[in-house]
Amino acid sequence: MPQSYAITAEAIQAERSRVDNDLDKFDAANVIKLDELVLPELGPKDVHFRVLVVSVEHNIDHAVLADTVNITELRGGKIYPGNSAVGEVVKVGDQVTRFKPGDVVITHCNGEPDIYGYPKRIWAYDKPESIGWYGQEAVVEDWQLIPAPLDCGLNLWEIAALPLRAPTAYHLWRRALGILRLKIDRENLARLNVLGFGGGVSELFLMLARHEGHRAFFCSGSAERREHLEEQGIEPIDQKKFNRFASSGDVKGFSKEVKKLTDGEGIHIVCDMLRGAVFPAGLAALSRQGVNVSAGWQLGQKISYDSALLSVKQVTLDHTHYDTVVGCNACTELYGVVFKPTVHKEIYTFAELPRAVREMHHNTQTGIPIVQVAEDLPASVKSLAV
Ligand SMILES: NC(=O)c1ccc[n+]([C@@H]2O[C@H](COP(=O)([O-])OP(=O)(O)OC[C@H]3O[C@@H](n4cnc5c(N)ncnc54)[C@H](OP(=O)(O)O)[C@@H]3O)[C@@H](O)[C@H]2O)c1
Repeated sequence: MPQSYAITAEAIQAERSRVDNDLDKFDAANVIKLDELVLPELGPKDVHFRVLVVSVEHNIDHAVLADTVNITELRGGKIYPGNSAVGEVVKVGDQVTRFKPGDVVITHCNGEPDIYGYPKRIWAYDKPESIGWYGQEAVVEDWQLIPAPLDCGLNLWEIAALPLRAPTAYHLWRRALGILRLKIDRENLARLNVLGFGGGVSELFLMLARHEGHRAFFCSGSAERREHLEEQGIEPIDQKKFNRFASSGDVKGFSKEVKKLTDGEGIHIVCDMLRGAVFPAGLAALSRQGVNVSAGWQLGQKISYDSALLSVKQVTLDHTHYDTVVGCNACTELYGVVFKPTVHKEIYTFAELPRAVREMHHNTQTGIPIVQVAEDLPASVKSLAV
């Protein structure tokens, strides 16, 4: 029987009690544990695939902590997480024409499109009955898979870093740019100032901006990530120089620095993703007519702002989620051309996945964490595993 990682409400409760709800002491590795999984029968539209490589996504941190909602409890007490994977097709149902055994695929996690195509539910998170891909094998309907762009110039680990984060960034960028252009057209302003705060989604967002000729600024606490982005022409700002915006003085200092870097103009588009102390810093850095977009709330779910001030500056706040299925497919065309993600220096084994989640929680990784699930990689990807 294939093995798969599971999170149980019982394990969350036990770990929260152990640390007396002090999330700094919380050990995710005590919550995400190996389990056995009975795969569903192969239906006519299903694809059975072997999981090769996965990336650790931040929603796993939210799931093990139960810090947004207790998704595990809401889903009946147990979930099989993992919504970003590269796999090798083993078998297909008799109505599947897009894939055949031996094909290498990536997943997307739009679990239930709304009438406009955007997800109402995320696969292996809030989509009922969905089984995630932190396991050795999986069965899903064919629309949940995309052919892996193996000749895009990225290595296997970089490809595995993108299935969840790249579509999120792709959607955020389209939305942010569309809103900004409604207010300031290209005739008046060709080159925008774009800022993102640390993290995988933000860095991909900035790569999109940079690729389209804009000035892009990455404000992060990680020297390794700043360096990687600087090589792509993205200007670094050390967030720790401003004490991660612990006080209003730090926010003022940051805003002053940004104004200096942008000849007094400020930032036209901010990608937040974290909220908490980052939100007021992002707002302070915005130019007139600026746009702040976010699909995340890692440091806080509630935000507050001075509505009068934002009206006078004509600032727009926008909230997004994951992309449409069409958008997820389209953005793979940008793998390697635009998206060149920063990968954490260690590739974890399947057995080490809980440690990868723990280290993500403690923010000690130097890039997007990748886990090699299959020990024996197929010939088609072996040369990319470098
Ligand atoms: N709605 C969606 O579809 C969707 C999709 C993807 C992600 N998300 C959410 O968006 C958020 C970010 O995701 P991601 O994939 O970009 O995460 P990520 O790659 O894991 O990056 C998280 C970043 O948070 C920063 N960070 C950690 N602690 C911090 C602190 N105390 N103060 C300031 N920054 C801190 C770190 O940056 P530095 O240390 O480098 O500054 C780290 O790189 C998560 O909450 C995730 O769940 C939502």
